Amino acid sequence: MSTEVLAKVDVEIHHTDCFINGQWLPAKSGKTFPTINPATEEVIAMVAEGDAADVDAAANAARNAFDSGPWREMDARDRGRLMYLLADRMEQEIESLAALETLDNGKPYQDSLNVDLPLAIDCLRYYAGYADKIHGSTIPIRGNHFCYTRKEPVGVAGQIIPWNFPVLMVAWKWGPALAAGCTIVMKPAEQTPLTCLRLAQLAKEVGFPDGVINVVPGFGPTAGAAVVKHPLIDKVAFTGEHRTAQTITRDSAETLKRLTFELGGKSPNVIFEDADLDAAAQGAYVGLFLNQGQCCCAGSRVFVHESKHGEFLEKLKRLTEQRKVGDPFASGTEQGPQVDRAQFDKIMSYIEKGKNEGATCVTGGQRVGETGFFVAPTIFDGVQDDMSIATDEIFGPVLSVLTFKDKEEIIRRANDTFYGLAAAVWTKDVALAHEFAARVRAGTIWVNCYDVFDAAAPFGGFKMSGHGRELGEEGLKAYTESKTVTVALQ
Ligand code: NAI
Ligand code: MG
Repeated sequence: MSTEVLAKVDVEIHHTDCFINGQWLPAKSGKTFPTINPATEEVIAMVAEGDAADVDAAANAARNAFDSGPWREMDARDRGRLMYLLADRMEQEIESLAALETLDNGKPYQDSLNVDLPLAIDCLRYYAGYADKIHGSTIPIRGNHFCYTRKEPVGVAGQIIPWNFPVLMVAWKWGPALAAGCTIVMKPAEQTPLTCLRLAQLAKEVGFPDGVINVVPGFGPTAGAAVVKHPLIDKVAFTGEHRTAQTITRDSAETLKRLTFELGGKSPNVIFEDADLDAAAQGAYVGLFLNQGQCCCAGSRVFVHESKHGEFLEKLKRLTEQRKVGDPFASGTEQGPQVDRAQFDKIMSYIEKGKNEGATCVTGGQRVGETGFFVAPTIFDGVQDDMSIATDEIFGPVLSVLTFKDKEEIIRRANDTFYGLAAAVWTKDVALAHEFAARVRAGTIWVNCYDVFDAAAPFGGFKMSGHGRELGEEGLKAYTESKTVTVALQ
């Protein structure tokens, strides 16, 4: 482990309990679970293992803060100001937050510092600016009536997040919820609870009233399911696997929660004959290998026009073979370990399947080192649509290259997946780009780029990739209820 970063930032672990009603409390059961550093496989800290009893306390705190606490009466502009203060605190502590994120998740420190934290801070500021700009409309109706709508907060928001972007997922969830005036019960991923807990403490220090933000670390089937079932929680926002979303849908039936889901993908990245091949190769490389391949929108099906296949593959292979894998705290590291053993094993099993199904492993295909969950950046060529590496979400650094001949064929094949999160197209033909954008059924289409994110741009999926949108104005709407008020004027 490189000490050059760890020596200069404070990564002492201060917060490992549940954060409920402004207080740090051990789980009522007294249980704890370990969170692991995936680069060394060592235990970083023991964390409170919250379950239904702790979620109940958190839900009651959030309910009180929503129904009768200061949050309800607070001027929207002051609510926004608290959000700006939280973003400022994150900026002041950016190095220690980035180090904590890397320790718990394994992503390169340079990425935590230069990508994840800045995006999270930007997201909170974007939504802070919305807090006092949420308003309904006046509506002309028949008769002598005055009719208007009010956009009110949905209430207590249950938020369940994954481990691939721990800090950023907190910002995507807290930003619109707080701006709308909701209160929060969050369950961070069991693999990566530490930065979320630290952010709860920062929120307390900048002045968020007790009960507005509550965090219950723990496991999905216990703490997560308790959030989903709790009658005092009005809405659940979830990011993770589609099968978990199916369980959440069933578990929320009793209380009819509002649900927003951001799930997985098998996103097509399509390179036409006329594309700038250097840019496309770079886009395919970043679009898949970013964040150790642990991205819901990873461009994991790279389709290249058959006339450019050889040239493109050569460029992509060259980039991939230069990728620096190793200690996430060492300068120059581009790829750290996968988040845990379960993900590592899943990825290695897909690499085996790819080989057995007859795809050609052009580079990578094995573990790196003997300690830590490192996987060599891997490219499979000669991949066919029905191979499992072309149909299943691998969530690791494994890229599949497929070829195509013409437009109709590729649009059909791009759509031939039950997912619909993202897609990209590389071409100089403007009409073709727009046609692709219109006909491919996915929530985000990138043209001659990949992984361009902005807090203002809605993100989410068609089909099994989710419902609802996060970010932008649409993300805010997911935390509001519309109320229609009609007043007789005589
Ligand atoms: P997961 O969907 O099980 O976990 C995500 C979150 O949901 C965690 O906080 C977890 O504790 C919680 N959860 C699990 N079961 C729950 C339940 N019954 N009720 C309420 N909450 C529950 O995903 P997991 O197991 O971490 O990863 C499995 C696969 O899912 C990955 O290999 C990847 O393919 C996909 N995934 C997709 C993500 C995305 O960003 N769309 C993020 C993480 C995983
Ligand atoms: Mg961890």
